[in-house]
Amino acid sequence: MRKTIAVVPGDGIGVEVTEAALDVLKAMFNAENMELQLETYLIGGASLDAFGEPIKDEVVEACKKADAVLLGAVGGPAWDNLPAEKRPEKALLRLRKELGLYNNLRPVKVYPSLTDASTLREEVVSGVDLLVVRELTGGLYFGLPKETKPHKETGGEQAVDSMVYHTFEIERIVRDAFEAARKRRRKLTSVDKANILVTSQLWRKTVERLAKEYPDVEVEHMLVDNCAMQLVRNPKQFDVIVTENMFGDILSDEAAMLTGSIGMLPSASLGTGTGMYEPVHGSAPDIAGKNIANPLATIASVAMMLRFSLDLPAMADTLETAIQEILSEGYRCADLTQGAAHIVGTREMAELIKERVLKKV
Ligand code: IPM
Ligand code: MN
Repeated sequence: MRKTIAVVPGDGIGVEVTEAALDVLKAMFNAENMELQLETYLIGGASLDAFGEPIKDEVVEACKKADAVLLGAVGGPAWDNLPAEKRPEKALLRLRKELGLYNNLRPVKVYPSLTDASTLREEVVSGVDLLVVRELTGGLYFGLPKETKPHKETGGEQAVDSMVYHTFEIERIVRDAFEAARKRRRKLTSVDKANILVTSQLWRKTVERLAKEYPDVEVEHMLVDNCAMQLVRNPKQFDVIVTENMFGDILSDEAAMLTGSIGMLPSASLGTGTGMYEPVHGSAPDIAGKNIANPLATIASVAMMLRFSLDLPAMADTLETAIQEILSEGYRCADLTQGAAHIVGTREMAELIKERVLKKV
């Protein structure tokens, strides 16, 4: 069996964490005598520097053809003052849109050995196991009009972002969330701002209609401000959270901290075609190139890739177990020093996971 992965490391620590994760993946494929074809492309700031655009058309095409895409992170201070079309983040948005990746899964699982690593009390976070299902190709990120223009009356400028949702966009993500809940603890929290936003009213109405098809799943509606509060008050109440693009962006960063570090959070972006996998953390330019970034979010993203795109669920389990074991033996990267027995670098962490995985196959 041969699998082709389009690798787009991007900027900052994106480069080193993808390299570390691929090191593990290559070893796993080798051990199973399977062929792994890696095609690496520039995106984000790296592509801007090389080609003057955040992503080339041919890179988008190559990603569409691959079995899966592994992405590091994009952005950094060097490219912060560019117009929207030329920002590194545009690469990510284009990939999401053109690959049809409307469904972003962000599992938030507190590892037993890390319950003391969170800024929240141990009894609040221990046992947290929730999934944020974030809509990824609609809402404020993509809605039109999206523009800045001079505003005569006030003498300044006026900027507009538009929050737009169609029934079909809500239906498909909500269905996926119901299906995900069915495989878990059968509780779905739909998060909106239906007291103010008409998009949220359509969202809520759609959830209520679909709920009739999933009588075995308990459904609740929660306003987004309340959800932000509940996530730190009592996160164990959540199983699956489904929400629109911007709310999901914000809530998933908040939820990440339950695990102790955003450096632990993987993600999968799924749609009708090729899936894309990336750590939730960004490019962290301040620590880039120092071999101190935590590669576990990317390694866990590779586990999601094995499960959702490469149809290798047993390998995914092996990898996830290895992560859990290495953590329980006290190995940490610099983002999680509290209670750590050994602080290791990016490459060393990958090496530990690799050795452990190879013992299991
Ligand atoms: C994320 C990131 C992106 C987003 C940025 C980099 C465009 O924050 O994946 O959560 O806002 O979606
Ligand atoms: Mn984000």
